[in-house]
Amino acid sequence: MSEKLKLGVNIDHVATIRQARHTPYPDVVEAARICEEAGASGITVHLREDRRHIQDADVRALRRTVRTRLNLEMANAPDIVNIALEVRPDEVCMVPEKRRELTTEGGLDVLRNRMRLARTIGRLHERGIEVSLFVEPDKATIAAAREIGADAVELHTGVFCISKGATARAELSRLIAAATFAHGLGLRVNAGHGINKATIQPILRIPYLDTLNIGHSIVARAIMIGLAGAVREMLREMACYKLRGSA
Ligand code: PXP
Repeated sequence: MSEKLKLGVNIDHVATIRQARHTPYPDVVEAARICEEAGASGITVHLREDRRHIQDADVRALRRTVRTRLNLEMANAPDIVNIALEVRPDEVCMVPEKRRELTTEGGLDVLRNRMRLARTIGRLHERGIEVSLFVEPDKATIAAAREIGADAVELHTGVFCISKGATARAELSRLIAAATFAHGLGLRVNAGHGINKATIQPILRIPYLDTLNIGHSIVARAIMIGLAGAVREMLREMACYKLRGSA
């Protein structure tokens, strides 16, 4: 574990904007480069089975261009696993996936899918790919992740990030206990989901964190920070226009 807490930026929603119009922009490769230049330690993308944002070609292009670490989030589905084995990201984070969900809704049921996950972890390891499992802050699940050979767990922070008061406090305690437990088993501890500027400070109370994976809030914030510049840029383009009859 390094001293400094790392940030992995999930750029799925850069692709969401592109897919809304099937334009070549915004370009995920350029977005990844900007994130890296700004200090991100890694780039994360989720290749969903329905390809709603990130496309196969994006993963291949990012593999060629990402200078830090490429983390591929994915379900344990045969065609997606084959792409991971071919593209060889630095790390795979295995997540459960439902077609109709807006975003990943919960952690993996490692206990119930132990054999299938173990098989995929073994195949990914053979290709030199590290494997993290996205899990609820639950000790039995984390112990099972360790037993089937995961290198890391990513603790699901989504419930904490949308909770308030006593529920939030209880969930943060679970995250702290889970991180301590996972670290004690020798697992690398990452965390992610739903983290934004309002929730980052309490999240930092979770011990032993290696990387936080944050996506939606950063892309959303980028719009607010960048919108004025984009308007000014377009106005500069328009400035040469002479009103008809104004000569
Ligand atoms: N980690 C995992 C496993 C995820 O599925 C996601 C969402 O794709 C994230 C982190 C990032 O979550 P958010 O976009 O809410 O920051």
